[in-house]
Amino acid sequence: MRKSIHSYGINILKIEIKNLIKQILKINSKPTRDRDYINEIYEKIRNEKFENLDSFSSPKDYFFDIPATYADGGIRYSLLNNKLVEGEANQVNFMILEIIEDIMRDTSCENVIELGSGGGKNLLWFASKYKNIKFIGLELNKTSVDLANAAAKKFDIQNVEFYECDLTKTETYKKFLTKNTFVYSHHTLEEMPRIFKIPLNEIKKSDVQVVALLEPIYMFSFSRIILDLAKRLRILNRDRLIGLKKFSKRKLSKHFNIKLVDLGLGVKPENPTTLLLLKR
Ligand SMILES: C[S@@+](CC[C@H](N)C(=O)[O-])C[C@H]1O[C@@H](n2cnc3c(N)ncnc32)[C@H](O)[C@@H]1O
Repeated sequence: MRKSIHSYGINILKIEIKNLIKQILKINSKPTRDRDYINEIYEKIRNEKFENLDSFSSPKDYFFDIPATYADGGIRYSLLNNKLVEGEANQVNFMILEIIEDIMRDTSCENVIELGSGGGKNLLWFASKYKNIKFIGLELNKTSVDLANAAAKKFDIQNVEFYECDLTKTETYKKFLTKNTFVYSHHTLEEMPRIFKIPLNEIKKSDVQVVALLEPIYMFSFSRIILDLAKRLRILNRDRLIGLKKFSKRKLSKHFNIKLVDLGLGVKPENPTTLLLLKR
């Protein structure tokens, strides 16, 4: 029988309660998402993808890189239209990409920036489709940037550039924040839970007109009540994203119209994606 969203939520809740107890008893320590911690995580992930670069034959292939199961054979669950689904993580990611694409097309932009472009899979897919737009990826982890540039070369994509860049060092990239540039992020600000305000304040001062943040902003829904309680605990236990909604309302709403959409989509059900759309 298919697992329900509530039984999945109970499992996650149990894991997070155990986690909390271990942290209280000092058996486990709470991670701190700082630069070193983040770099370490992505160094490993992107090195593995780099080693397999030859196995990807197209940008779409490169995008669809999440295996249907975990290495130990465990089922990989995702959230699709608020339903629990099995082995569809790539499909969910692709639906999120299409949401970004629709917003991008509406802006008629000349340039697009992805904040925290990772291994470049989103931008490579867009750049292969929209040859008249220039795409720029800004990314902290050097191996990820090297991988993304190597993939662009492999797929012969010329209208994309990836730069090693810490988003808190705004001097290094503020020249790119022009009127004709659409800016988006996909699960990047969640990796910088205390410092996401720095790039957003820089964007606020710039001429950028439209920003789409696809981030796991906490949204509560009764239809997912147990999962959403577990999610709250997970955010606290694992130093995940908190305060983006409040910050946007308080500090950005004078400059942008703000739209928040609970997408009901999540590569991981316990870390679903919300759209925060900022328009001048
Ligand atoms: C979850 S990954 C998402 C990557 C990409 N957006 C995607 O959808 O495939 C988050 C990325 O944000 C990057 N990141 C985290 N903190 C950053 C910072 N301060 N400056 C630039 N990139 C950062 C990480 O290195 C990582 O590649």
